[in-house]
This record gives sequence, C-alpha cells and structure tokens, in this order.
Amino acid sequence: MEDFGKKAIEEILKIGNLEELEKVRLKYIGRKGIITEKLSNISKMPLEERKKAGKELNIIKQNITEEIEKQKNVLKKKKFQSTECPEGMNDVTLPGKPFDVGKIHPLIQVMNEVKEVFLGLGFTVATGPDKETDYYNFTALNIPKDHPSRDIQDTFYIKTKEPKNSKTQELLLRTHTSPVQVRVMEKQKPPVRIIVPGRVYRHEAVDASHSFVFHQVEGLAVDEGITFSDLKAVLEIFVKKVFGKDVPTRFRPSYFPFTEPSAEIDIQCQICRGSGCSVCKQTGWVELLGCGMVNPKVFEFVKYDTGKYTGYAFGIGIERIAMVKYRINDMRLFYENDLEFLKQF
Ligand code: PHE
Repeated sequence: MEDFGKKAIEEILKIGNLEELEKVRLKYIGRKGIITEKLSNISKMPLEERKKAGKELNIIKQNITEEIEKQKNVLKKKKFQSTECPEGMNDVTLPGKPFDVGKIHPLIQVMNEVKEVFLGLGFTVATGPDKETDYYNFTALNIPKDHPSRDIQDTFYIKTKEPKNSKTQELLLRTHTSPVQVRVMEKQKPPVRIIVPGRVYRHEAVDASHSFVFHQVEGLAVDEGITFSDLKAVLEIFVKKVFGKDVPTRFRPSYFPFTEPSAEIDIQCQICRGSGCSVCKQTGWVELLGCGMVNPKVFEFVKYDTGKYTGYAFGIGIERIAMVKYRINDMRLFYENDLEFLKQF
C-alpha cells in the first residue's frame, strides 16, 4: 500500500507540464481514479481491515493531492518565466516597452494658460479669419492708408484680380488679432468682454526674436464706465498668474492708433535677469503686450455710442511669454519641430 503511494508521488515529480499533471491527477484521484476506486472498495472488506485500509488510503490521497498542488505551482511559474509567451497570454514578467506619447506644443500650452486666466475673469473666446481685408486690419482700427504705422507692420498682401482700393477685395494676412475687435463689435452690442487667440503674420526676416508668423491673444472689454484702472487691474492679475508675484514688470506709455491712451507692459528679462542679453537687446526688459483705452474713432466705425461706452484692449505676444517663462533664447526653436526640444514641455 505505502509503496503504491510513493510511486505515485515519484510519478508526479517527474511531470514537466500542466496537461500531463492533470492526466495523472485524474488517474489517481479523479472520480474514476485508482484511489477513488480503492476507497469505494473498502466497504467490501472484512470489518477489521476496513479501518486500517481507510486510514492508509486517505493519507495517501492527501499526500498525492498536496504533491499535485505543489507541482502545479512549480509548473505554472516555469510557464511564465519561459521567454516563449504562450498563445493568448501576456507574459507579465517581461520588462515593458516604453512608447512615445504626443504632447501639446509649448506655444499652444502657453496660449491655453493665457486663455484660462481670462476665462476665469469672465471673458469669452472669439475668433476671426487669418486672411483679412485692409478695412478690418487697418482702416477700421484708425489706421488710414497713408498712416506711418502701416510701415511698422510689414504686411503680406494677397494678390487679387479686383481693382485696388475696392474696399472688400484688398486681402492680406492679418498683422495682428485686433481686426477681430472690429468684427465682434459690428455684430454685438456692449457689454463686450472677449479674448481672441490666433496666428498673425508680418513680412519680417527670421532671427532669434522675429518670425513671419507668430501668435497673439487679443483682449477687448467695452461697457459703461470702464476705466484705465480696470485695464491695469486685469493685466496685473494676468502677469502675476502667469509669471508669479516676484517677477518685476513695468507699465510704459506707448502709442497705437486704435487705443488712446496706450501703454505697453514689459517684464524683466528672465534669461539674463535684467543684466542685458541678446533676447532683450541688452535692455534687461522684454515687451509682453500692448494695450490701452479703445480709441473713440474705432467706436465710430462700429457705430457704438462714444458718449456712453468706454473700453480697453490689449494684445499679448504668446512667443514672448513662452520665451520668458521657459527661458528660451531663440524663437526659431518653436517652429523647427525638433523633438528633443519639444519633449521637454
Ligand atoms: N495690435 C497691437 C500689436 O500687434 C497690440 C495691441 C492690441 C495694442 C490691442 C493695443 C491694444 O502690436
């Protein structure tokens, strides 16, 4: 009897795969297995042998069951460790393969951040076309044909077959997002509180701080009783939110035909921390945005009551913000699609 148990266990230990093991399990302790049969035959034995035989058989059955269970675990582990992955199964012990995940471009990340600040202040997003008419880009913003500021914003004109000077046919690539101010005011009565994220184009030679296409976020608020201090407060919140409380900024008088009075906000150059470098052209300051109170002449173009309404506008340069924020000293890096650069954001 004992011999029989030992042999069974030897047999189990030699088994090399789970399928064989299952066969042996059935052979011994399955419903029609040897042990099962032997146990049911006990009732036919003489009474005095029954007790002894029953006890022995049960011990053997228990040993075999335990041994099979142990061998099962050993074989399972082996199966996972083998480099050959069994069909339909993932080998969870193999090291993972990293894969590249796409990311939002740093300029769009900054643009989204700027948007979030103003959305939180009650502004909504408006958009307009990149291909603009001369009227919206210049004339309605109080920049008449012979105005010297047209020279500052070197413009890409789009050739059309229409005769020159026909108001709607003089197409160009917008040089700023300000034309959307006019488009929105033409359609909407005050109160107006919008931001306009978008691309703008200027005929400029490309270098470390210039590009022929770049990004702006325009802002416009028009209502009764809006003052210059509202403008200052909103822009101060914006600068603090994006750059933190401790970066020095300055508010400087400036000139734009479509705002009066006008100002610009500069931020201390974070690349040289104010001591002067190529990005800030040795001044220690970087221009972030232009702003001012909407010139009543613009209101006249959109037929707003200039006696009743006042407003402020601003135009933020996104590339500048991104460069100062991330201490990037060459604007061209944003457009070269160099993955080693982009991966860092
Ligand atoms: N449009 C101006 C520029 O591109 C910025 C600006 C917008 C200034 C709104 C004042 C008000 O330089």
